[in-house]
Amino acid sequence: MRIAVIGSGYVGLVAGACFAELGHQVISVDNDESKIARLQAGEVPIHEEHLPQLLAKHHGKGLEFNGKLMEAVRACQVIFIAVGTPSTEQGTADLSHVEAVARTVALAIDEYKVIVEKSTVPVFTSEWIRKVMLLNGVPAEQFDVVSNPEFLREGSAVRDFLYPDRIVIGADTERSASLLREIYQPLTSGSYYSRGTIPSLIEAPPSPQLLVTSTKSAELIKHASNAFLATKISFINAVANICEAAGADVGEVCRGIGMDARIGSKFLNPGIGYGGSCFPKDLKAFASVAKELGYDFRLLDEVMGINERQRQLFLRKVRSALWTLKDKRIAVLGLAFKGGTDDVRESPGIDLVKSLLKEGCAIRAFDPAAMQRAQEVLPNAGITYCESAYEAASQADALLILTDWQEFATLNLSRLRNLLTYPIILDGRNLYDPTTMASEGFIYYSVGRPNLQYPSIRTNADLAVTENALMSIKSRSSHAVASS
Ligand code: UDX
Repeated sequence: MRIAVIGSGYVGLVAGACFAELGHQVISVDNDESKIARLQAGEVPIHEEHLPQLLAKHHGKGLEFNGKLMEAVRACQVIFIAVGTPSTEQGTADLSHVEAVARTVALAIDEYKVIVEKSTVPVFTSEWIRKVMLLNGVPAEQFDVVSNPEFLREGSAVRDFLYPDRIVIGADTERSASLLREIYQPLTSGSYYSRGTIPSLIEAPPSPQLLVTSTKSAELIKHASNAFLATKISFINAVANICEAAGADVGEVCRGIGMDARIGSKFLNPGIGYGGSCFPKDLKAFASVAKELGYDFRLLDEVMGINERQRQLFLRKVRSALWTLKDKRIAVLGLAFKGGTDDVRESPGIDLVKSLLKEGCAIRAFDPAAMQRAQEVLPNAGITYCESAYEAASQADALLILTDWQEFATLNLSRLRNLLTYPIILDGRNLYDPTTMASEGFIYYSVGRPNLQYPSIRTNADLAVTENALMSIKSRSSHAVASS
């Protein structure tokens, strides 16, 4: 199948590379000429596992990059729209990029094509695309509009694409549905799994279920899925706050409720709240589309409110651990909105760093992938970017874990303790066991679990920490005297 994918961001690039991996001829289009030039030169613009491998394998064979939308539309049977749908100030989805693409597609169409919404869009978008096509003189029998939402998580997007739980096709005609079925046939038949280059995480992965619905239902499936997942996170964060107040352990509570098969244990990790390019934007858009349709979806307002408060509660925890924040040196591990990605959009970590800077802290930050992107959105002053978690911890008054990178869960604790001025860790992702941390000599705060502290100075290592603290206090007070 000849496929055009319009938009070479996270969704478009992954989709394009994966369609090529399934054996299709793909043209990946973007109106950002410099991005196309970089892709043509073999650069990989985003940090995404397996993507470099797929781009290297298919570029110049089943996958080409092109800045010319009309040319790509004419050459392809199916056109996937994967352009951005950011939030407007009112919280609705800004569909101007989708509309602009639809208009250009209308000008280029010369025979039957299927236009597929791949970006997350509100219900009724397919109808609008249809209207744009008709208004621009395309005969109704020359096109169909289909909704084929993606459920890709950043960091595991390639695997999510090739080993999905389900494929949803919202199509109102059999002709368009059967073209989409054909595109995904290597996955639904399981034939890809015997020849694919990207391995599954499990042995003998099952073929995904394919669900064909109306276009409107498919559009709603996407928004409702993300809203439900975000609700799960805010729910467990609210429970975590109650656990803290009651002196219970949210980890134990999660295990207990997750054993109910109707609830399940996934997506129940408490922390500093969800972020990223999808949940915050999609929840706002879903709430506002519901309102437009006459339903006040107040549950979603509360989900968003809990998420916002979760960051503030963590900041309050930092204050209560460190007393005053002015001039404190804080090591920050993690700037990406979650582990496995360089994306800092709506990252709770970025938000917290901004708040700490406002309070006068000096930040020593490290993230394995997101430092460059973080620098683009954070103020210049007050932040030292470090080469490793240990460099960040060096002579810091406390260490904050803000992203659930796997490497932050396996740090050398005694090395860390010796580097820190004070052995204080505030873990916004619950990566460590509180008892272990207390026995390693840390004053350890996490989310929804009792705070355990080492009772008093007992070992030589603890004394070394105290010496660190004394040295730091001495050098800072002499500096303060000198500068006054
Ligand atoms: C999400 C959806 O999972 C995906 O299906 C959709 O297509 C796009 O949006 P993504 O934004 O990549 O994917 O990240 P995801 O792994 O879902 O995590 C979203 C946020 O929730 C992250 O900030 C993460 O740290 C947070 N999270 C996730 C929690 O706080 N607790 C959890 O238990 C799970």
